[in-house]
Amino acid sequence: MENYSLLQHNTFGMKVRAKRFFEYKSVEELQQLIKSVPIDEPLLHIGGGSNLLFTGDYEGTILHSAIKGIEVVDETDDNILVRVGAGVVWDDFVAYCCEHNWGGVENLSLIPGEVGASAVQNIGAYGSEAKDTIVLVEAVELRTGQLRVLGNAECNYAYRQSIFKQELKGKYAITYVTYKLDKHPVLKLDYGNIRTELQSKEHVTISDVRQAIIDIRNTKLPDPKILGNAGSFFMNPVVSREKFLSIQKDYPQMPFYEVDNGVKIPAGWMIEQCGWKGKSLGRAAVHDKQALVLINLGGATSDEIIALSDAVCKSVKDKFGVDIHPEVNFI
Ligand code: EPU
Repeated sequence: MENYSLLQHNTFGMKVRAKRFFEYKSVEELQQLIKSVPIDEPLLHIGGGSNLLFTGDYEGTILHSAIKGIEVVDETDDNILVRVGAGVVWDDFVAYCCEHNWGGVENLSLIPGEVGASAVQNIGAYGSEAKDTIVLVEAVELRTGQLRVLGNAECNYAYRQSIFKQELKGKYAITYVTYKLDKHPVLKLDYGNIRTELQSKEHVTISDVRQAIIDIRNTKLPDPKILGNAGSFFMNPVVSREKFLSIQKDYPQMPFYEVDNGVKIPAGWMIEQCGWKGKSLGRAAVHDKQALVLINLGGATSDEIIALSDAVCKSVKDKFGVDIHPEVNFI
């Protein structure tokens, strides 16, 4: 399709267009399509558009996967391997696993986006990350159509990072992801207020955890159908122990998480301390229930979102001496 509106393909609600837009249902169809894409034009593969900020019309080709299907490929007494099409809506997959009592992804309930993006972005929430269950990632090289299969270790997963955001950025389309799920999972209830949400339950099931996560997310995160947004706009920074201790002296109540390479400080907390929570600049605003999320109040341009993002980063730098960076991709 030519001169195609991307409004339904970006949760920020930017009114932009793509020169060309193609959706494909199979690996073979993708390989055929690739042959018709002009070699000298930009090419972008998108998922659910829930982590993107289009800064203008896209003067090239955008690809989107409609590869569906959830297929059990192996099963033991303890585990189950499922191969899932990259175009499956992530939360449909999570719901399917919870219905079957397969554990591992329930804490990632209600994250917007699609299965392919879970493997690119290493989506994470409430103490779980996609990388904890990903076994294999099948991909097609965008310029050649060649198939490639990567094991979990080859994907170089880290917090919101993978090889697909580094060396292979923009080079591959994910076609299928294989996840290993647990038939007897140890439920992760220790993050945030999951346990509080579940205190009335005597025996907690996978589906209870899913419901608790859905309830928590619904109170904090805006529904993109009502208020355009891309979830967390910034990543949580990791600072040195020294730096952390110097901030903690002034802010003893600051939340933090110990990580391998230092201490992670929630950017949402710092942004709130800077007084930005619920504040707007033009038609862009900092969400009033979770300061890590920037929202489109209606009709905001990407320039307005970026102006707000820059102002927020500057405030955090001035107050805490910490650099925060967008997690959202600017296109
Ligand atoms: N906090 C504040 N004020 C705020 C927001 C947060 O003080 O406005 C504090 C909270 O009270 C808490 C801490 O900061 O002590 C962490 O907050 P929260 O648990 O809400 O999580 P987060 O670190 O802000 C991350 C993910 C979210 C994910 C949640 C829950 C990133 C970039 N974001 O946010 O992911 O849902 O943890 O696990 O790591 C997303 O990526 O789109 C996303 C929503």
